[in-house]
Amino acid sequence: MSLLELIRPDLQGFGGYSSARKEAQGGQVFLNANESPWAPAGEAWSSGLNRYPDPQPEALVTALADLYGAAPDEVLVGRGSDEPIDLLTRALCVAGQDAVLICPPTFGMYAVCARVQNAAVCEVPLRATDDPAAPFALDVEAVIAQALTASVKLVYLCSPNNPTGQALPLEQIERVAEALRGRAVVVVDEAYGEFSPLASAVTLRAPFPHLVVLRTLSKAYALAGARIGTLIADPALIRVLRAIMAPYPLSQVCAQAALNALSPEGLRSAQQHIATLLSERARLASALARLPSVRRVYPSDANFIVVAFADAAAVYRAMLAQGIVLRDVSKHAALPNCLRISVGTPAENDRLLTCLESLA
Ligand SMILES: Cc1ncc(COP(=O)(O)O)c(C=O)c1O
Repeated sequence: MSLLELIRPDLQGFGGYSSARKEAQGGQVFLNANESPWAPAGEAWSSGLNRYPDPQPEALVTALADLYGAAPDEVLVGRGSDEPIDLLTRALCVAGQDAVLICPPTFGMYAVCARVQNAAVCEVPLRATDDPAAPFALDVEAVIAQALTASVKLVYLCSPNNPTGQALPLEQIERVAEALRGRAVVVVDEAYGEFSPLASAVTLRAPFPHLVVLRTLSKAYALAGARIGTLIADPALIRVLRAIMAPYPLSQVCAQAALNALSPEGLRSAQQHIATLLSERARLASALARLPSVRRVYPSDANFIVVAFADAAAVYRAMLAQGIVLRDVSKHAALPNCLRISVGTPAENDRLLTCLESLA
């Protein structure tokens, strides 16, 4: 089956909404979109907001393509990477018939988007190993076998994985992609890729049109509030997703914030922050491992660390009482008594360690 044959049959050839912006290019007097002709009151940053924004601003698409090593026609910019996950699910899964495959414990939105689309969720849990450097492993053969038997249209590989924190070796992603050619779209979610020592799966894409990579400016580029995520995929798939996407998904203000983050100065600042974060991650991991309340510190290729405590619920409450908010991930069967701790600024990490040290 070709990539486009994996798309829902009822969406084949669907062109989407024909917006005023799409229908007409050029001109000086814009009387075609029922916008206000006056700029809104307020600061300079709001000028231009009386007009609908460019759905996919060329300068931003090009900057993101350069950042991730892709061609501009392989890039779709969405509201965070959450939106491409939703678009992929809706484009590929026939409600009540098709399924997505996830490897829990993993990021919750894959299953949420499947649920909203009434797609089934096949689970192939990560395998616990005895290797302290890689305590969770992808069950490559089971992923392939499941995907080939059930009506799986999307396989999510999260690397580095949230919440376990480890990146997947590229060779494993390649094996899954090779086995599922023509059968399912393989999505590698690299939301935390900037913190990992491994190369991006974008480097694997050439022979695999059904391999999709997700990236985001929410983590390493400090723009969670702007909601700018990138899907990197075959141009034919990008065209299908554009057709089902909202006509004007990106606000002009957020697109400009992203361009600022991708300017030479913005990129330098992000690189400095990534370097600080990596050294803080190492410092935090060794300090946490020395605390009496800590049972295990999991290795991390991301901007967070998963820590098993003697009593995670008590630590969570004690930290909250001190104003420090952590994420309780102990609902995942593979992570009993575990909290997920985002690496903060050096001062925030000091405060966390001081509070943890003060626990009985
Ligand atoms: C693995 C993973 N993917 C995607 C996302 C969504 O990120 P965003 O929509 O902000 O790009 C997150 C957010 O935490 C995540 O952990």
